[in-house]
Amino acid sequence: MENQVKWGVIGSGGIARRRTIPEGIVPAQNAKLISVYDISAEANNDVAKEFNVTASSGMEDFLNSDIDAVYVASPANMHLEQVIACAKAKKHVLCEKPLGMTIAEAEKMIAVCKEEGVTLGTGFMMRFVTQHQAALKLVQDGKLGKPVYGRAQLSCWYPPMEGAWRQSPETGGGGSLMDMGSHCIDLLEMFFGELKSVSCFTNNNVHSYESEDSAIVSLMFKNGAMATVDTYFCIPDNSSKNILELYGSKGSILAKGTIGQGAAGEMIAYLEGDDAGYDAEQTRNAGDGIAIDPSPVNTYLAEIEEFSSAILENRKPQNNLEISLQSQKVLAACYESAKTGKIVELA
Ligand SMILES: NC(=O)c1ccc[n+]([C@@H]2O[C@H](COP(=O)([O-])OP(=O)(O)OC[C@H]3O[C@@H](n4cnc5c(N)ncnc54)[C@H](O)[C@@H]3O)[C@@H](O)[C@H]2O)c1
Repeated sequence: MENQVKWGVIGSGGIARRRTIPEGIVPAQNAKLISVYDISAEANNDVAKEFNVTASSGMEDFLNSDIDAVYVASPANMHLEQVIACAKAKKHVLCEKPLGMTIAEAEKMIAVCKEEGVTLGTGFMMRFVTQHQAALKLVQDGKLGKPVYGRAQLSCWYPPMEGAWRQSPETGGGGSLMDMGSHCIDLLEMFFGELKSVSCFTNNNVHSYESEDSAIVSLMFKNGAMATVDTYFCIPDNSSKNILELYGSKGSILAKGTIGQGAAGEMIAYLEGDDAGYDAEQTRNAGDGIAIDPSPVNTYLAEIEEFSSAILENRKPQNNLEISLQSQKVLAACYESAKTGKIVELA
């Protein structure tokens, strides 16, 4: 493993095949795809053929292949068992979100990875959107003033489907909140820092499956800022613009379409003063605001390259286990609030 991490993929037939393998692992300079495993042998063979890699017939066969790291992209209820199996085989693991179904599961995975000395991270790839990084810099540099309010939205149309694992809490851990709201909360924590408490409503408003198709969360941050997350499985794709809004005592940063699987949307900063010192290379005039449009990166590529570098450099990845565990804790607090009708404090 001199300058390339040898990767394997578990759950090769879903997002792995659509995005992470072709856009992330294959083009990454510091990664090489070696083997894939999926419970569907047919899907797995197709992926192996498409990318010219080994199709493993089972977990044992997969873990015996010549790999250093594993991207786990199976349904959420399989993560615990599979992450632990990888760690025990001394493989580093980038696990898709949510890390586990519960805090206890996440803690168990983290403990085993630490014991085995392997790196663990979670797929919060939306942190790598260059506009999000530019917005973070504005917040960190104080250009927004004191953070006041944020909103993050991620919604889609997700109709009932036979066997869809996200539609049952037993396999998905939750619905729109667990699946998509987790990204929104993670981003807001990146911008505004540590959370103090949450309050949440969930509902099944349109679809009849067991997991929620609707969720809103109110977040109170330790620094006094507040935020809301709205995330629905029952809004047509085209009518949700996946809004991100950050307000502070000196202005706002307003975006649409930067949250999601694409590389870039639109983001405009309205800051007190003219350009409030924002790096001119990344700006152009847009009405009375400043367009924040740094060169986009492919977030799946950035995610794989960053995690591979962390392994090669023997350092903590950006999307590390603290972030993974924190997400699990906040999600659990949200579901507790939705169930009890109470505000839940985060420890
Ligand atoms: N960050 C992102 O952009 C993003 C997008 C979609 C999904 N995800 C995450 O990726 C994971 C997978 O989601 P998806 O949309 O690809 O789901 P999916 O159902 O489309 O695909 C999952 C794949 O895992 C396989 N599988 C099921 N059980 C398995 C098992 N026991 N062992 C091995 N393979 C198994 C399935 O056959 C399928 O090919 C989830 O954690 C999800 O939250 C992340």
